[in-house]
Amino acid sequence: MFFRSTVAAIGKYLPDNCVQNADLPQQLETSDEWIRERTGIAQRHIAAPHETTAFMATEAAKQALLAAGIAIDQVDAIILATTTPDNGFPATATRVQALLGMKRGFAFDVQAVCSGFVYALAIADNFIKTGQVKTVLLIGAEAFSRIVDWNDRGTCVLFGDGAAALVLTAADCASLNGKIASKEQGILSTHLYSDGTGYDLLYIDHTIDTPTKRGAVVMHGREIFKSAVQKIGEAVEKALEANALTIPDIDWFVPHQANARIIKGVIDRFNLPSEKVVVTVDKHANTSAASIPLALCEAVHDGRIQKGQLVLIEAMGGGLTWASAVIRW
Ligand code: ACO
Repeated sequence: MFFRSTVAAIGKYLPDNCVQNADLPQQLETSDEWIRERTGIAQRHIAAPHETTAFMATEAAKQALLAAGIAIDQVDAIILATTTPDNGFPATATRVQALLGMKRGFAFDVQAVCSGFVYALAIADNFIKTGQVKTVLLIGAEAFSRIVDWNDRGTCVLFGDGAAALVLTAADCASLNGKIASKEQGILSTHLYSDGTGYDLLYIDHTIDTPTKRGAVVMHGREIFKSAVQKIGEAVEKALEANALTIPDIDWFVPHQANARIIKGVIDRFNLPSEKVVVTVDKHANTSAASIPLALCEAVHDGRIQKGQLVLIEAMGGGLTWASAVIRW
């Protein structure tokens, strides 16, 4: 028997504290105009001390489980994509497991920075396809505000905090060769890439040899920007090709929300109708591994994404990593 992964429900959590560009600390010497023009960001949610990555992930997961009508004792695995775990180890996913009262299965983190959600989706999908698990809580959660240097205007204005969770469940696959029939709901494809020669373009300057240093994000923004549209373009092409799809077949394009100019670059490259593109970067800023599921959640909850529609997601981030996936919702 073959299985496919279907999305049963989605939930999210955003910290209460929403900081507008104009409310950023004065010492930053920035402006609403500069930030909007270069990035499209107008505001971001910033976590309070109690809103840890585990806390936000747990709240998002509770919402998704409730919407799915699935009890925690039916969940086989928690896979948490995050760049901002509560501790270096153990995996924050295990804390989420405890907070949810889950006493079975397994939980672990995935670290692929802004591509983390798509990486975690691919891992979850493969566990389900092999029949090893039936129900997965897939979460993207970040407290990026805790790892940026709030004196570095070139990075701190770009990021935000939040979490979103999907409940994935196994369904029987109608086709005989293990491939999902094109009209069936579920994850149709995932494509993952990395190129470690870009390691130093975006990183946190805290290492195992500098345990007392707090560490902050270091970013070579222009180089990242230059790579982004090209690498995202590659991943999108692969996703279309693997499913024998063309752009008009796609109902919703849900990109990683790093920067409105990167999103526009991809829109232009593929001639995507802008009304089919879900954009939340203005409201959430870049929430790294949480950005795609937060955008999915918004578009599902406001009724844009409907059951049976084709959704193409893509991401690119530190590593460098980049990835894409096609989901029939
Ligand atoms: N407010 C005002 N001025 C600023 C700010 C700010 N927040 N940040 C930088 N500046 C200044 C710089 O100091 C510099 O001033 P100078 O000319 O006097 O030296 C000037 O603006 C230009 O700085 P650059 O860094 O060259 O600006 P650039 O046009 O490259 O825009 C940006 C910066 C927005 C970060 C851009 O490079 C970018 O979007 N890169 C993509 C990075 C990204 O999205 N990273 C997210 C993580 S990776 C991912 O998710 C894909």
